[in-house]
Amino acid sequence: MELILCKTYEEMSLAAADQISELVCKKPDCTLGLATGSTPVGMYRELVKRYEKGELDFSKVKTFNLDEYYPISPENDQSYYYFMHDNLFSHINIPEENINIPCGNAPDAEAECHRYEDLIAASEAVDIQILGIGQNGHIGFNEPDDFLYASTHITGLTDSTIAANARFFESENDVPKKALTMGIGTILRAKKIILLANGKSKHAAISALLDDKITTSCPATFLKTHPNVVLICDEEAYN
Ligand code: GLP
Repeated sequence: MELILCKTYEEMSLAAADQISELVCKKPDCTLGLATGSTPVGMYRELVKRYEKGELDFSKVKTFNLDEYYPISPENDQSYYYFMHDNLFSHINIPEENINIPCGNAPDAEAECHRYEDLIAASEAVDIQILGIGQNGHIGFNEPDDFLYASTHITGLTDSTIAANARFFESENDVPKKALTMGIGTILRAKKIILLANGKSKHAAISALLDDKITTSCPATFLKTHPNVVLICDEEAYN
């Protein structure tokens, strides 16, 4: 695993934006795997800046997001659909039809998971998958458990994730209790994975990622089986 250790959140965001920019310039029709949460917001801000300066063209880029709450409507300002448009898609020239996010208000969640998994499988492999990490080591919404899922699936959120994500909602009760998420196998099929982490609250999860054990109690540890992972983190998350 390659490590890029950064002094600040800003530096981390620029380092991540550099990797995406380099790919988009070299391969304009690349496929990006994208993540939500507060961690990648700075990276998205930087990508928008570079687009506005005319340095980047997203007209041929295709994206797959990791996950979405369930049930939630895309218009809900807490949906990941809303988040992605608010932070990135509405500010760049990516065609709407190139954007893929699991549908949070699909009537049949299982059918939606199959549809999403099949869509990813039928597409060209994801060139770069961006990941954040939960305080408990979750990636996407693959939560610590006795076993993990390989493919896109519906999952319950752990109490600690509901508590951690409550800061975005009016109250903890408003946080959806379920989500649709790519599985560990879906994530590991990306050609390259970039994991971003900042702040003390991520330190335990990052330590587990850096030792030699692989365990379902810290789903991110499965990234150790992937040959091309870059960890971009700040000193608080690392030390
Ligand atoms: C959420 C998302 C993850 C994200 C994580 C960390 O629950 N499903 O994809 O990586 O939590 O969020 P944050 O970046 O806000 O710490």
